[in-house]
Amino acid sequence: MRVQVVIIGGGPAGMLLSHILGRAGIDVLVLERRARAHVLSRIRAGVLEAGTCEVLRKHGVGERLDREGEAHDGIRVLWQGAEKPFTIDTLAETGRPMTAYGQTKITEDLYAAHDPACVTLIENAEDVRLYDIESEAPYVTWIEDGAQKRADCDWVAGCDGFHGVSRRSIPESVRREYERVYPFGWLGVMSRVPPLEHISYAHHERGFALASQRGPNLARYYVQCAASDRVEDWSDDRFWSELLARLPEDEAGKVTTGPSIEKSIAPLRSFVSEPMRWGRLCLAGDSAHIVPPTGAKGLNLAVSDVHYLSEALIAHYRGDHGLIDRYSQTALARVWGAIRLSWWLTTFLHTFPEETEFERRLRQTDFDRLNNSPAARTDLAEQVVGLPL
Ligand code: FAD
Ligand code: DHB
Repeated sequence: MRVQVVIIGGGPAGMLLSHILGRAGIDVLVLERRARAHVLSRIRAGVLEAGTCEVLRKHGVGERLDREGEAHDGIRVLWQGAEKPFTIDTLAETGRPMTAYGQTKITEDLYAAHDPACVTLIENAEDVRLYDIESEAPYVTWIEDGAQKRADCDWVAGCDGFHGVSRRSIPESVRREYERVYPFGWLGVMSRVPPLEHISYAHHERGFALASQRGPNLARYYVQCAASDRVEDWSDDRFWSELLARLPEDEAGKVTTGPSIEKSIAPLRSFVSEPMRWGRLCLAGDSAHIVPPTGAKGLNLAVSDVHYLSEALIAHYRGDHGLIDRYSQTALARVWGAIRLSWWLTTFLHTFPEETEFERRLRQTDFDRLNNSPAARTDLAEQVVGLPL
């Protein structure tokens, strides 16, 4: 078969890109390695920047987001030893709201909006391979129901996440990778209990903890755990007692505990692969970069990449090639901003296994500065809320 654009990966980045391009009349094929039910069952991101919501609305997939998303106007920091919570007042500082709305729902909305007349979606596409991406006539092969298939195209969009095949199709001699792996992970727990009222980051010598929400009776919590921990090491009882130990007493008193309905461990890393375009292959989302979840930037970056890439491809098909030629530079400028913020917040809020008193003093100095300097607060709020696209 022949299409204009092949998109590898049907996660949020791939499905949003296919939706935008399909609506613009571009002929698109999406190849997703897993079944739809599996993609929709992944529980990950929860917090959306204003710019992300604007992109979703602009392309007609913001209706449920506006109905069910919970506006939140700041992130509270519960600092061990501090008398009261400190708030990163994102709305007051920047005028831009953030929204709590699960990635699972965004993916559901995108799959529900899928129009087979505009976008061909193939699930369970195995062994996807990319060919001739340096030429103007690339092609992609895959195995479907045991048979080898081939699609010729003008462009390949690599939206297949960190472990996908697209990034690795760029020759090693061209690829530059930048990475930091953190010596801990996040244990995430979902429970059908009322959440705390505000999204809260807790810094404690026992480790970081995060209280978030997915709805009036659905709480999402995380605790920093050892990088080598397995989910089986964490009974519900151990999880709740560790969470409560890391929160100030009055906050711990507000937490409703209950059985977990999901529990998973995510490793923490910062990673960027440059360039994001090579020949006729463009990367978007986690296939090109990973941030630690502190700061809630990963999905937002996937959406901003897709915003730039979709505009560039639409302009290209109208005869204007400038945006696609600059895609890598444009996307990377935003990516590095989020990489820096997520690294800083991670270092600021977590307890590192080998940290020294020197590092603890620096961290306390950063916290004091946030309390004492309006300029420091505005600077942090601007980064947390995300720069306009
Ligand atoms: P993915 O979601 O990884 O999707 C890639 C898709 O490609 C998958 O469906 C996969 O099956 C498919 N695929 C992979 N390989 C192949 C192949 N070879 N062939 C075909 N298909 C393939 N971000 C935020 O913005 N806010 C948050 O609050 C937030 N919280 C997070 C909390 C946790 C615990 C974690 C782990 C992440 C969090 N993130 C957050 C990050 C966010 O979830 C990711 O950045 C986002 O999923 C990236 O989307 P993507 O489409 O690029 O990649
Ligand atoms: C979630 C919320 C956050 O603020 C964050 O940094 C990471 C994840 C969440 O709700 O899943």
